[in-house]
Formats: sequence, structure tokens, C-alpha cells
Amino acid sequence: MLLTIPDVLTPAEVAHCRRELAAAAWGDGRATAGLQSAPVKDNDQMPEGSPAARALGDLVLDALGRSDLFVAAALPLRTFPPLFNRYAGGQAFGTHIDNAIRPIRGTAIKLRTDLSATLFLSDPDGYDGGELIIEGNAGGQAIKLPAGHLVLYPAASLHQVTPVTRGVRLASFFWVQSMVRDDGARALLFDLDRTIQRLAAERGIGDAEVVNLTGIYHNLIRRWADS
Ligand code: NI
Repeated sequence: MLLTIPDVLTPAEVAHCRRELAAAAWGDGRATAGLQSAPVKDNDQMPEGSPAARALGDLVLDALGRSDLFVAAALPLRTFPPLFNRYAGGQAFGTHIDNAIRPIRGTAIKLRTDLSATLFLSDPDGYDGGELIIEGNAGGQAIKLPAGHLVLYPAASLHQVTPVTRGVRLASFFWVQSMVRDDGARALLFDLDRTIQRLAAERGIGDAEVVNLTGIYHNLIRRWADS
């Protein structure tokens, strides 16, 4: 399932991120690349675990916690501390797949990457290129979203970022280990959840069928979730 989530960050939060990123120290993006992806990766990244990256990462995590849509779609068990990258001057990231397992720095935790996420921080008019192309059964889908919007997609997908030929593309990116590992099962749960929400808005939360469907939703979670 590929899902766009609008307005994860407020305009004020986007502005704050941009100010911090303008003053940040950047390193080579290959620092977090795997063996296959390193040769095709050309971008800058805030060093993982730096105080500035941590503070901005916490801001993103707080925003994700406020997003019902993110929680319903990802059913997050663990979220990787968000990283930040920058592409300019023709930089790009060729076709690759994200590593399946990511150790979380400074902890003993290893996260299984079920979902990948990119949170756009630059206005699309401010740069040319820089599309995130996600391969799927229907071919590649090009994603370039307004600042503050997020795309969530299966980490099992091949993807790339096309060269940024004008301006600067800033983004945050991270991975999620979901309580529900299987993408198809998670998509069904999301569909059911959205249907229940719409039905509850129409009929009221105490409606007998809304209660029944809510029970089915939670019983499927019991069946499929790891925690
Ligand atoms: Ni990637």
C-alpha cells in the first residue's frame, strides 16, 4: 500500500525544520547506505544521532503521533529516529532497496523495516527533479509532495530519487516496523478502519453495526499483530 498523508507538519513546523537544516552540519549520505545502495547514493545527510538531528527527529515523531491516518495505516510498533537529507546540484539516489534490518544507534534495538516514509520539507516549486519513484506492479509512481506532506510505502519496493537539477530538496526519511508485518493484511485493516470511521460519522459510534465492525477490527488485530 502506498499512501500520501497531507499536513503531517504545520507550516510553522516546516519553517522551523528549514531554519534548523539551513544551519546544520551535513555529512555524506553514504554513511547509512547498504552495500548495494552506496554506489548509487549521492546526497547529504545530517549525521545520525547528532543533537540537531535528534531534536528535529523528535519533532517529526510527535507530529506522527498526532496523525490518526499515519497510526491507522502503519500500525507502528517501532519507528526509526527520523533522518534528514538534502539533494542539490544534480545529486540523486539510483534504484535501490532499503535494508531489511536497521539497528537503532545507541540502543540494542534492531528494527525490521516494513514501511519506508519520506516527509517532504521543500516546496515542490523550489526545485526541479527530485521525484521519489516507487516501483510497483503498475510501474513506477513519481511522488513529489508539498512541504509537510508524507508518503508511506512498503519498504520492499525498489525506489529511487531522480537528480535535483535546480534548487534544493530537503526531506526527512525513516522506517517503521509495523505490528502487522504483512502489507496485504495491514492494507485490509486500514480499509476496514476507514470504513468504520465513515460509518460511525454517519450513524454514531454506538450504532450496533459500528460496534460489531469495531469488534471484528480488533479481533483481526489480535490475530495478526505482534507486539
Ligand atoms: Ni531508500
